[in-house]
Amino acid sequence: MADIIGCVGTSHIPAIGGAIHKGLQQEPYWKPFFDGYVPVHQWLEQNRPDVVVLFYNDHGLNFFLDKMPTFAVGAATQYSNADEGWGIPTLAPLRGEPDLSWQIISTLIEKEFDVVTCQEMLVDHACTLPLKLLWPEGACPVTVVPVCINTVQFPLPKASRVYALGRAVGEAIAVWDSSKKVAVIASGGLSHQLDGERAGFINKAFDLQFMESLVSNPEWATQFSIHTLVEKSGTQGVELLMWLAMRAALTAGDGAGVRKVHSNYHIPISNTATGLLALEKVMA
Ligand code: DHB
Ligand code: FE
Repeated sequence: MADIIGCVGTSHIPAIGGAIHKGLQQEPYWKPFFDGYVPVHQWLEQNRPDVVVLFYNDHGLNFFLDKMPTFAVGAATQYSNADEGWGIPTLAPLRGEPDLSWQIISTLIEKEFDVVTCQEMLVDHACTLPLKLLWPEGACPVTVVPVCINTVQFPLPKASRVYALGRAVGEAIAVWDSSKKVAVIASGGLSHQLDGERAGFINKAFDLQFMESLVSNPEWATQFSIHTLVEKSGTQGVELLMWLAMRAALTAGDGAGVRKVHSNYHIPISNTATGLLALEKVMA
């Protein structure tokens, strides 16, 4: 049976891709952000996952407003990145893990999550940047199963539903007949609003409480409606739903809970509050 080793939640602001491309990691603006990843690199180096299940929201590259699945799972052997119009360089295609994709899809359908299956899928910055942040050197060493959750076009799935989806994904990983090591990644948030009257909105108190809840009380955020989450975290801050799915995945299978490996919170990059949280599954 496959082994879930832990999870990493991270922000995915497109400007990060530009900074990596230009080598700005040590510049004063960027250093506090990039320095946060060093302890997580060490943890990944020690634990070496083979596969990543990555929760993210597509921003209009693969799904546009005319066709917007609430939940979609990639089932391809390869996922290409493409020009998104953000000015960031296009990254190399990612390798898929179709066997785990179909395990996840079958388990989700069995549990009455009627997901869209994507045997071809372009992946945007929200999928590629976390991998580049976690494995900055050379080719990406992991295969990927992308899981998309709509946070772009209303109505959005409820936090409690996203949590249930994440748990079901975790159950699928736990029964996957493989000796591979799996890590779960969440890409999005934290609080930010890119447009409208509240453009630039950041809520540090809520972000820190949310990050803490993922360690000690993972269902905490499921108490909030989507409108309350938007009020507290901004229209794009609602991307924090990915972190909820990620954490729920770790509640499945064997294990006694989680241990915090590392966290970092830095304001702002672009108009966004950036968060990083790595948790290790405790097997006792
Ligand atoms: C920004 C943040 C995002 O999550 C995103 O998808 C695009 C832009 C930003 O802060 O610039
Ligand atoms: Fe985003």
